Amino acid sequence: MRYLTAGESHGKQLTTIIEGIPSHLPLLNDQINESLLRRQGGYGRGRRMQIEKDLVEITAGVRHGYTLGSPISLVINNDDFKHWRNIMGENPIPDDEEVRRTISRPRPGHADLNGGMKYGHRDLRNVLERSSARETAARVAAGAVAKVLLNELGIKVGAYVREIAGIVSSFDESMTLEERVDIAEASPVRTLDKKAEKEMMDAIDQAKKEGDSIGGVVEVYVEGMPPGVGSYVQYDRKLDSRIAGSVVSINAFKGVEFGIGFEAARRNGSKVHDEIAWEESRGYYRKTNRLGGFEGGMTTGMPLVIKGVMKPIPTLYKPLQSVDIDTKEPFAASIERSDSCAVPAAGVVMEHVVAFELARAMMEQFPGDYFPRMKQAVDAYREEVRRF
Ligand SMILES: Cc1cc2nc3c(=O)[nH]c(=O)nc-3n(C[C@H](O)[C@H](O)[C@H](O)COP(=O)(O)O)c2cc1C
Repeated sequence: MRYLTAGESHGKQLTTIIEGIPSHLPLLNDQINESLLRRQGGYGRGRRMQIEKDLVEITAGVRHGYTLGSPISLVINNDDFKHWRNIMGENPIPDDEEVRRTISRPRPGHADLNGGMKYGHRDLRNVLERSSARETAARVAAGAVAKVLLNELGIKVGAYVREIAGIVSSFDESMTLEERVDIAEASPVRTLDKKAEKEMMDAIDQAKKEGDSIGGVVEVYVEGMPPGVGSYVQYDRKLDSRIAGSVVSINAFKGVEFGIGFEAARRNGSKVHDEIAWEESRGYYRKTNRLGGFEGGMTTGMPLVIKGVMKPIPTLYKPLQSVDIDTKEPFAASIERSDSCAVPAAGVVMEHVVAFELARAMMEQFPGDYFPRMKQAVDAYREEVRRF
C-alpha cells in the first residue's frame, strides 16, 4: 500500500493516488472531507484557511460507496486558482513583466534556497509552491482513507496538542481515546487541559502581536492495534521506525517520541520497561505503557502513544535576515501573510500520517485484496494471540 501526492500550493488542484486499499471497503467523500475540515481549523491559523474550504472529489477507485481494489484517486480543487492562472498556468507565457516577476529572496527556515540550488530554479516560486505545507491536505486525504480502513478493523486513531510554546498540558492519562478526542475537538487549540488552553491561546495572541511564531508538541493516540504488527527481522520493517520517518516528513516536524520518549534516557530501566501480564478476557497486556505500545519494532497491543515536535513556522512578520540570489545583497525577509501557530492543525496532519503507516502495516500482515476476508483474518489473529 502506498500513495503519491501532486500539486502546487496555488496550482489548479492537489491530487492523491492511493494504491493497495482492498476492495469492498465502504468509503464516502464525507469521511475524507471531515478530516480536511479538521486540518483547516485551529486557533492561530491565517486568512487562507478562512477563504478556502477543502473538499475532496473521489475520481477513481470507488463505486457506489465501496472501494474497487483499484487505485483510488482523490482531488482537492483550488477555488482560488482563477486568480493564479497567469502565475501558475502550465503553458508558456508572453513576455509580460508582471507575470514573469520572479522570487529571488529565499526565506530562512524554508526549502527556498536549498531547493533552488538543487533544481536550478532561479525563480524560487518553483520551489516554495511545492514545499509549502499546503501539500499536507493531500496527505490528510490519504490518511482519511486509511482511518476508514482501520476503523472498520476496530483501530481508532486520534490526536491532540500536548504543548505550545513551552506551555505543557496535563490530563488524566487513564482517559480513553474517545474521551480525549471529544475534549480536543471542542478546544480551539485541540488540547485536553482547560487551564493550559487559555495560556496557549494567550501565547498565540502574543506571538501574533510580536510578529513572531511558536511551535509545540502534538500527540497521536491509537487504540485497538493488535500485538505483533510490524517486524523485528529487518530494519525497514520496524513499524516504529516507519512511523518516525513519516512524522518527520511532515513540514516543520523535527522529532518523534514513543511513550515516555527522551525521558527514558534519564530513568533506570526498572522505571522504563513495562511488565507483562495475562488475563483470560484481555490476553497479554503490559501493566504500564511507558514504551508507548512498541517493543522490537512491533506493536505490543497496548495503546500507541506517539509525540511529534513542530518547530515555529518560519515565515515571520518580524523579519529575518537573508540574501537576494540575484543581487547577493542582504535583505530582511518580510511577508504578506502567515499563520502564527499551526500546531493544532499539524496534530491533525500527524494523526493522518500515522494512520496511513498503521494501515500499510496491517495490509502487509493480513490478506488485503478483499476487505471482508482481511477483517476475518484480523479477528482470527486477535483470538489466536490472546491465547498464545
Ligand atoms: C499544518 C502546517 C501549516 C504550516 N503553515 C505554515 C505557514 O503558514 N507559514 C510557514 O512559513 N510555514 C508553515 N508551515 C511549515 C513549513 O511548511 C515548513 O517549515 C517548511 O516547508 C520547511 O520545511 P521544514 O521545516 O520541514 O524544514 C506549516 C506546516 C504545517 C504542518
